[in-house]
Amino acid sequence: MSTAHQFATPSNDTIPEGMQLATRGTANPLDEIEQDLRSAIFGQNRAIESVIRAMNRARFGFAAGNRNRPLVNLMFLGPTGVGKSECAKRLAQRLHPAGGGFLKIDCSLFSQGHEVSALVGAPPSYVGRDQKPLLDPDIIEMENSVVLFDEIEKGTAELWNLLLQIMEDGEVTLLNSARTVSFRNCILIMTTNVGAKEMVDYLDKRNIGFKSTRQDMEATGQQIYQIGFEALQRHFRPEWINRIDEIIAFRPLSSATMSRIFDRMLDEANEQYLNYGIKVLISEASKDHILRKGYNPTFGARPLRARMLKDIDAPLADLLASGGIPQGSKVLVVYNGGDVYGEELSFYYERDNDLESLGRKRREAVQQAVKRPVAQQDTKAPAPSQGPAMAKTIDNAGRR
Ligand SMILES: Nc1ncnc2c1ncn2[C@@H]1O[C@H](COP(=O)(O)OP(=O)(O)OP(=O)(O)O)[C@@H](O)[C@H]1O
Ligand SMILES: [Mg+2]
Repeated sequence: MSTAHQFATPSNDTIPEGMQLATRGTANPLDEIEQDLRSAIFGQNRAIESVIRAMNRARFGFAAGNRNRPLVNLMFLGPTGVGKSECAKRLAQRLHPAGGGFLKIDCSLFSQGHEVSALVGAPPSYVGRDQKPLLDPDIIEMENSVVLFDEIEKGTAELWNLLLQIMEDGEVTLLNSARTVSFRNCILIMTTNVGAKEMVDYLDKRNIGFKSTRQDMEATGQQIYQIGFEALQRHFRPEWINRIDEIIAFRPLSSATMSRIFDRMLDEANEQYLNYGIKVLISEASKDHILRKGYNPTFGARPLRARMLKDIDAPLADLLASGGIPQGSKVLVVYNGGDVYGEELSFYYERDNDLESLGRKRREAVQQAVKRPVAQQDTKAPAPSQGPAMAKTIDNAGRR
């Protein structure tokens, strides 16, 4: 009996001799990228997993038999401010740590059909033929480049036709130079808010709020996908949608996710405050208060940043400017329900010498960094008599 035959007909409870149980190894470099994305984009583990799965397939060339197309065509679907663009950006950063390899096309700029020429260039003798096309081959043809078409529903039929061509043929001819740009090494990501209005209505109806349970958000996520997918079908022809390898739904953010985003925003803010020797701590009650005011599943994390600016940054800057808080202080923000001076949040401080000297050092370092290029420029600056010669050079360059 051949091994192949044994393999084809195993009984349920006997494993043919010599066969090993396959378990997942740790060798896949994409695992690290997945971890990194998870640590940056909160509450979207399923979406991230789908991205990585699609990329893994592409890596082995499992591209449904057609290699004349981008490595992978992805569509990110979901409400506003939930991490779609951020995920694409972060993926590009991870794949190209030294920079480059990322091209973002904002499709809302192409609401008029003829503007698509900005992407592929204008044919000779047309207006704008000298302008460099936005579809830059130097970026797109880099290995594993990420090309992001953001908010595609805001584009025009011409733009969607171009995208169809990219998804299907993996190349586009630039009209100004007749050069072909190959998309075969790129990860194509499109994002859309189609169905956002229906998503908002659904969230309102379901009364998804600040303390909705995880299960609630989970069920909502599936529904959001359905709403988005149906909207996509209304917006785009089936043959267009069929060219997409994976439609990935980004879910509305839960309050627990918002809380993590808040913590990260505060860390980033503290980095800036430290230039003035300030470290801000926020009490649980005041954090809860800011989150409640800044929470809106319809707009995701976007309103939270505005809330932080208004509730923390602005009053802190005012206190610093007026001498109400001296530089070099630990600051505690507490919630008082509006009892003290009619404000909902109050700021307490305590002088801290270590923070003060840290702030001073940071400011000095910034000043040095600003001075340095000026100093270099000074040494190279032409003597006054060289002025006209410089002017001439610039003049000549302009005429070339
Ligand atoms: N899931 C998340 N985890 C961490 N930060 C997030 C998340 N979602 C949004 N943010 C924060 O909100 C900002 C806006 O998110 P992003 O630009 O990714 O939104 P988007 O989903 O692309 O929305 P839109 O559809 O409006 O373009 C990000 O820069 C990030 O700071
Ligand atoms: Mg976006």
